[in-house]
Amino acid sequence: MKKVVVLISGRGSNFVAIEETALRERWSETIGAQIVAVISNRPQAKGLTLAQEYGIDTAVVDHTAYETREAFEEALYEVVARYEPDLIVLAGFMRILTEGFVNRFPGKILNIHPAILPSFKGLDTHRRAIEAGVRVHGTTVHYVTPALDGGPIIAQAVVPVLPSDDEHRLADRVLIYEHQIYARAVKACLTGAVRCENGRAVMDDKTSLYLTLFAKV
Ligand code: GRF
Repeated sequence: MKKVVVLISGRGSNFVAIEETALRERWSETIGAQIVAVISNRPQAKGLTLAQEYGIDTAVVDHTAYETREAFEEALYEVVARYEPDLIVLAGFMRILTEGFVNRFPGKILNIHPAILPSFKGLDTHRRAIEAGVRVHGTTVHYVTPALDGGPIIAQAVVPVLPSDDEHRLADRVLIYEHQIYARAVKACLTGAVRCENGRAVMDDKTSLYLTLFAKV
């Protein structure tokens, strides 16, 4: 059975979307994979309670309890490594992971970023997209490398920006597609339909189309 560990910091809606897809599509039987743990750097993260409701193991590695980023990452590594994960899914995990952590799981860490990378790396992506006046925005799933929001792109969903949007309305519309595209990307990585090779996400045309979504409004 392939093991997925999810890292969160907050509400955990992306985790729930992936778990719901895994249950609906019976991943444990159809692709031999399951989420085995949800780990948060924040003790109050709502996603922890949701994970417990699914009967999934949870753990907290509170970053505020460590003096340095390295010490936090060492503690996080210990908890994550215990599960021997095949895939680590960052789902609203709001800590930057350094080379020290990332290089211990090469090609095994995924992140979702709420923008069409390489545009709008970093924070406040929806506000910045509106300010920039772009007509389309969206979300990207990528492999995590030490370069912030810079790893190989696996999947993207494109969402229109409407004149009436504020950052919250736009964020809500993007989130719907985050949930769809992330579940697809996790599944494609678990089945081997996508692989990380020489700094690229390698896949065939059919998989590429499966991992590209265009929102309708
Ligand atoms: C999502 O918008 C994700 O793209 C960003 O943080 C948010 C997390 O939401 N990195 P949730 O915790 O999955 O509900």
